[in-house]
Amino acid sequence: MASCDLLRGKVALITGAARGIGRGIAQSLAEWGARIVIHYRSSEEEAHHTLRSLPGEGHFVLKGDVTDPDYCKQLVEHTVQRAGKLDILVNNAGIYEALPFSEPDYARWQQEWRRMFDTNFFSAVNIAYHAVRVMRQQGSGKIIFIASRAGLRGEQQHSHYAASKAALVVLARSMAVELAKENIQVYAVAPGWVGTELAQETLKRRGAEIVAQIPVGRVADPLDVGRAVRFLASPDADYLTGITLDVNGASYIR
Ligand SMILES: NC(=O)c1ccc[n+]([C@@H]2O[C@H](COP(=O)([O-])OP(=O)(O)OC[C@H]3O[C@@H](n4cnc5c(N)ncnc54)[C@H](OP(=O)(O)O)[C@@H]3O)[C@@H](O)[C@H]2O)c1
Repeated sequence: MASCDLLRGKVALITGAARGIGRGIAQSLAEWGARIVIHYRSSEEEAHHTLRSLPGEGHFVLKGDVTDPDYCKQLVEHTVQRAGKLDILVNNAGIYEALPFSEPDYARWQQEWRRMFDTNFFSAVNIAYHAVRVMRQQGSGKIIFIASRAGLRGEQQHSHYAASKAALVVLARSMAVELAKENIQVYAVAPGWVGTELAQETLKRRGAEIVAQIPVGRVADPLDVGRAVRFLASPDADYLTGITLDVNGASYIR
């Protein structure tokens, strides 16, 4: 049952929403009344599980690879065709992988940097490009990029990941300034460690050490991120446009 009606009547497209943080965002926004478009690439069963778990009505799934710029256009078009509009875009889909500077294979090095930016950055900016066209016509909209603490403080062995997330933070700031007069608000959210499949392997290896570095004493739950996103997605956060919201249990205070 919706505990709040702040997002009633809003249509929210969330990329990578089959599982993990994306699912937590979908559940949080649906609790406040939003109609959710659950995007996924390969996790079909999990996407339908997310769909069944949502309160409210009118939610649906869309499938595709966001590294394909043509698909990014289709994703927005199909959302609008089926839901009639697009009020909230959450660019959440992403990958996290290690790539140390000791990597000996230069060809692989280049390939991995490009793949990281194609997945974490260019997908988001391409979807945002098409979403802005719709939101401009509507006269309102919200765009939220899921960045990372790594994009603020850097991360050894993962410089390509950290740089792709830093790029999202600066993209959100730039778009917020450019689009403010059109009533389109743009934000980034920067989670620390969250207990999802993406973080599973690292948390298994270094869980105790990681938790010891988080004053709150635990890694985040996907719903911790989801609730932060839904606040930004609500009209209460309109004046906060351009900010990056940290969700890290006081592990990195700026
Ligand atoms: N977990 C953390 O500790 C943490 C911390 C900070 C930031 N983040 C960020 O939060 C976001 C979500 O992460 P998560 O932890 O929830 O990870 P996750 O469980 O691995 O989920 C990521 C989702 O992204 C989708 N995805 C990946 N590549 C894609 C592509 N080329 N096209 C379409 N979809 C694609 C996947 O969809 P399919 O499964 O359908 O293929 C997957 O479900 C990511 O951007 C991540 O960088 C995570």
